[in-house]
Amino acid sequence: MFKILVIGFGGREHAIAKKFLESEKVEKVYVAKGNAGMKRDGIILVDIAEDDHASLIQFAKEKQISWTFVGPEVPLLNGIVDDFTAVGLKIFGPTKAAAMIEGSKNFAKEIMDKYDVPTASYKTFSDFSKAKAYVEIKGAPIVIKADGLAAGKGVVVAFTVEEAILALSNMLEGNQFGESGSCVVVEEFLEGEEFSLLSFVKGEKIYPMVIAQDHKRAYDNDKGPNTGGMGTYSPVLQISQKIVDEALEKIIKPVASGMGKDGTPFTGILYAGLIATKEGPKVIEFNARFGDPETQVVLPRLTSDLAQIIDDLLYDKEPVVTWHKDGVTLGVVVAAEGYPREYKKGMLVPAEFKNSEVTPYYAGVACNENGELIANGGRVFLLCATADNVKTAQKKIYDELDQQTLDGFFYRKDIGYKAD
Ligand code: AMP
Ligand code: GLY
Repeated sequence: MFKILVIGFGGREHAIAKKFLESEKVEKVYVAKGNAGMKRDGIILVDIAEDDHASLIQFAKEKQISWTFVGPEVPLLNGIVDDFTAVGLKIFGPTKAAAMIEGSKNFAKEIMDKYDVPTASYKTFSDFSKAKAYVEIKGAPIVIKADGLAAGKGVVVAFTVEEAILALSNMLEGNQFGESGSCVVVEEFLEGEEFSLLSFVKGEKIYPMVIAQDHKRAYDNDKGPNTGGMGTYSPVLQISQKIVDEALEKIIKPVASGMGKDGTPFTGILYAGLIATKEGPKVIEFNARFGDPETQVVLPRLTSDLAQIIDDLLYDKEPVVTWHKDGVTLGVVVAAEGYPREYKKGMLVPAEFKNSEVTPYYAGVACNENGELIANGGRVFLLCATADNVKTAQKKIYDELDQQTLDGFFYRKDIGYKAD
């Protein structure tokens, strides 16, 4: 029987931990630090900060954890996998060096250049006047990205040169994202439909998941600022299997094998954010972990045992990875008013839902003194449902949300609209 420790605290980790618990081979799932909403599903919270590697290691030893699964990017980039491995503990995720595929856009671009992986053309700058001159020559639309981590908010898709220059000035002169934005990537604007292709990766071995589509902008019709993601669905039937196969051949395989050749082999979840352009799929970003909110709709579609898959990958065995063939799973994020900027906190969060076919995954929640869930983060929870098609899944979720008192919250009313 497996005893598993998950690192993280959001909706993604709720979905991962819940999926692990579906397995008959799993005895216990601990999450550090997790959130109060997870407890309802029998997940055990551990009050250790995700950057306190020494205490996490001690905990894993004391509880005889079979292996640890890392949800978010920050601990990966802090070297949690390296630290656990150094003391002989099993942990699933990329090393600090391999996680740089997410930690530095420039690092990712260099790998793509080297192994001929299709992506937007780009140039990197740390000097404002040089970046400004480049943007003036290239014109708009154009994309400005902070080099380092910025929780999904460090990207500005500028439709005018003025907007692009303002973004450059905020990042390079105004220090908007601190160190993360002291270097920027200025990138060609790619036109086409966006999708997320996640894979289980162990070195050269790749086991793709079903694709999903995120909705990054805060408001309906893709208006408003970029966020971590406001809703998602899977599969994405308007993206053909041919495009997915091309992405696997031309993008995922060369990156995984290239990282091995370069001495930074990747073990973990490799997330490719792709755009299906007229010339085929191209990369807009890599992440070194499961996506949030994509995980909340992708994992419910997995019909094989997630815990066994991870265990097999860790012990170099061939995993069985199978997926539901029919229907669609859709998830709508309910966020605190103001997100992704300064947002409200403390509102009561729904804990009961009338329709048993909707599943909540909790993220930015805490418990008040009466034991009720209250909002304490930007993205508060996601409501998920599976149905025959997008319309029916939307109806299940939006009917349920309509019946809830959601003062101080907002959510997009159009998740899945491109699938219509
Ligand atoms: P990222 O954080 O890199 O995924 O970027 C956030 C969002 O900006 C993406 O989900 C896309 O919608 C958009 N985006 C990023 N790069 C490009 C690009 N080169 N062309 C068009 N849109 C982009
Ligand atoms: N949903 C986008 C991300 O996880 O980065």
